[in-house]
Amino acid sequence: MVTNRRSWLKQLGLGAAGIGVGRLETIAAPFSDFPADDEPVRLVANENPYGPSPLAKKAMADHIALSNRYTRNITEALRAALAKKNNVSADNILTSAGSTEILDIAARVAVLKKGSTVSPSPSFNYWTSIAEKFGIERILVPLTADKKIDLPAVLSAIQPNTGVVYICNPNNPTGTLCSRKELVEFVTEASKKALILVDEAYIDFTEEQSLCDLVQGNKNLVIARTFSKIYGLAGARAGYAIAHPDTIQLFAGMQPWPNGSISVVSAAAAIASLGDEQFTKMVYSRIRHSKKYAIEQMERMGIRCIPSYTNFIYFSLAQYKKDYFKQLTLNNITGTGIWEEDGKWSRITVGTQHEMEKFIRAIA
Ligand SMILES: Cc1ncc(COP(=O)(O)O)c(C=O)c1O
Repeated sequence: MVTNRRSWLKQLGLGAAGIGVGRLETIAAPFSDFPADDEPVRLVANENPYGPSPLAKKAMADHIALSNRYTRNITEALRAALAKKNNVSADNILTSAGSTEILDIAARVAVLKKGSTVSPSPSFNYWTSIAEKFGIERILVPLTADKKIDLPAVLSAIQPNTGVVYICNPNNPTGTLCSRKELVEFVTEASKKALILVDEAYIDFTEEQSLCDLVQGNKNLVIARTFSKIYGLAGARAGYAIAHPDTIQLFAGMQPWPNGSISVVSAAAAIASLGDEQFTKMVYSRIRHSKKYAIEQMERMGIRCIPSYTNFIYFSLAQYKKDYFKQLTLNNITGTGIWEEDGKWSRITVGTQHEMEKFIRAIA
């Protein structure tokens, strides 16, 4: 069935009353194989256009009526499910309202240590902005020429006062991946000097293995994970950390209510998502397919793209002759701005095949 945005708002009972329509206008409609041509296309925040999974939606509906209860039991069930999935124990898991909450706590740990932070640049801008907000000294390490994280340079940049080192793997906005072998060597050395926060928000779009098996033997390693990407639950706000139990305790102490940040409805969705492999496999293969299509088309136009291990593409507008941002606006597409001025690098989220075809037509 074709659902357009207006009928969707109507179903929510918001259309007629006009409540919140202004804000909802900026959100794309739920996934449809046959979207209306005038639907806005949101390719800005690396969201998953297909989610939430059918099982997650059912679990959310089933748990609405339990929202009068605090989350304790269901959060414990979520921690147990996450422990099983990652082959660790529940003591190694801290749940959070999205993984940005874990990044936020890590920044506060750096503040407590009165130390600097080291991170590659460009990387996930939330990390750099939160560090700035807390007034932490930021040491930024440029990427290599092919936009990969320069791990030896990051290691050398660590100072005696460094509290936290942030590594996003695969990296946002570039989509590049450090191999597990490179990272294990890096973490072994770097964690002798500082807490290493490895953000694996996009690891599910790769074939690479997580570092979560290392946490039991290393108190200075924290892995941040999210349900916002392959599971399609960005608006549900569910994330978690995997770390040594002592480190989990330290991080939990900085939450208003340890493990209490995720609502009953979102926790139910997260648990159900973990059991919906059919959905994640579908997302994985559809994103791969539309990413390949978009990169091939962009490269045919002379736009240099960095090989991506994620659901977004980093590309240079240096050789592009039209006004890229005007083309997006004219076609009701939201993309991102520029990251590195000198090479005019920008990022586009990989949406559905239909959305990527619309994007390519818009910039052709
Ligand atoms: C690298 C990275 N980490 C974390 C997040 C945020 O995740 P969450 O929605 O779980 O807070 C994002 C979102 O785009 C991201 O790109």
